[in-house]
Amino acid sequence: MNQGAQARRYLDVFGVAKSFKGTRVMSDLNFRVERGELVSLLGPSGCGKSTLLRIIAGLLEADEGAVVLDGRDISRFPAHKRNVSVVFQNYALFPHLTVAENVAFGLRARGMAKAATGTPVAEALSLVRMTEFADRPIAALSGGQQQRVAVARALVVGPDLLLLDEPFSALDRKLRETMQVELKSLLLDRGITAIFVTHDQEEAMGVSDRIAVMNAGRIEQFADPSTLYARPASPFVMDFVGLSTRITGTVVSQEAGLVTVDTPHGPLRSRSEAAPGTRLLLGVRPELISVGSGENTIAATLQDVMVLGSKTVLHGTANGDDRVLCELPGIRSGLGRGQEVTLGWSVDDTLAYEVPA
Ligand SMILES: Nc1ncnc2c1ncn2[C@@H]1O[C@H](COP(=O)(O)OP(=O)(O)O)[C@@H](O)[C@H]1O
Ligand SMILES: [Mg+2]
Repeated sequence: MNQGAQARRYLDVFGVAKSFKGTRVMSDLNFRVERGELVSLLGPSGCGKSTLLRIIAGLLEADEGAVVLDGRDISRFPAHKRNVSVVFQNYALFPHLTVAENVAFGLRARGMAKAATGTPVAEALSLVRMTEFADRPIAALSGGQQQRVAVARALVVGPDLLLLDEPFSALDRKLRETMQVELKSLLLDRGITAIFVTHDQEEAMGVSDRIAVMNAGRIEQFADPSTLYARPASPFVMDFVGLSTRITGTVVSQEAGLVTVDTPHGPLRSRSEAAPGTRLLLGVRPELISVGSGENTIAATLQDVMVLGSKTVLHGTANGDDRVLCELPGIRSGLGRGQEVTLGWSVDDTLAYEVPA
C-alpha cells in the first residue's frame, strides 16, 4: 500500500469475527473508511449492520480482529474512551431533561463544568436549527425534532467518528428526505467522518460517498453509489440496490468476451468471459430498456402501465412467467395493459452473473 492510501485510511476494521451464543454472525470482516467520508452500511435486517457498528463504537466486543481509528488501536478501549458518537434509531434521549440538558449530557459525563457547557451546547443546537427549543422538555418535541437533538448531542463532544444506526427510520418519508439532506450537508460542511446504517437503498444512495452492501455478515461490495448501481458485483447487490429484469440462460458461444446466451426469450448477448455451457443470470436496469428495438430484444405483454409523471413504469411478462420492468422518462401515452411490445436494450447494459446450473 502506498503512502497516500495509508494517510487516507482513517478507520480500519480488520479480521473482525463475532458469534452470539455459539452462532457465527460475522467472520473475517474487513472495512476501511477514509477521513471525512460518509459511508453507509446497507443490507437487509439481520445481516450484521448494527453488530458491526456496535463493535466500532465499543458497545460490543469482537471475538477476533481489531478496530484502528486514526492510527490508534481502540479495540480494547471502552466505548466512552473512543471519542465515537452514536445516534440510535430511537434517539435514546432522556425524557425528563430539557433539550439543552440532553445535549450537555455527554460534556458533563466527560467532566466539563456545567457553566462551561453553555457555548458548545448553543453551537450544537444552532447546527441542527433547534436553538429556540433549548428549554423545552424532550416529550414536547416531534419525532424529527427529537432526531435533531440526538444529532446535536452526538456532535457536541466533537467526535472523531459519528455512527448513526437507522436514524431516520421512525420518521415519515417527507421528513426523512429533509433530514437526509440536512444531515449530509452538516457532516460535509464540518468534514465529519460518519457511518450510516440503513436498510433503505435510496437513503444509502442519497447520503453516501460509498456504500458497503452487507449480506449475512459479509460485505458483498463496497463502492460509490453509481458503481453499485451500474456494476453490481453480485446478484445480491443487483437485487438489493435497485430493480432489474432478470433472465436466466445458458451460454452457447463466447468470443472476445462477448457471450451469446440461449434464454426462454431467444438469444441474448452480454459481456462475459463465461465458457459455453455456463448458466448465466442476466439483468437489466429498468431505465435502460426501451420500447421498440435494441441489440437485445424480447417480446413482452404489458400487465400494467403506471404514469407517475416524471416517468412511466411498464410492468410486463415475457414468455408467460418472467417479469420485466421498464421505465420510460416522462409521460408516455399509447401504451396499455394487455399490449404486446418488443423491449430492447444494449449489450453493454446487460449485467451477467454465473449461477449454479
Ligand atoms: N445480542 C444478540 N444476541 C444474539 N443474537 C444477536 C444479538 N445481536 C444480534 N444478533 C444476531 O446477529 C445477526 C446480526 O444482527 P444485527 O447486527 O442486529 O443485524 P442488522 O442490524 O443488520 O439488522 C442477526 O442474526 C441477529 O439475530
Ligand atoms: Mg440493526
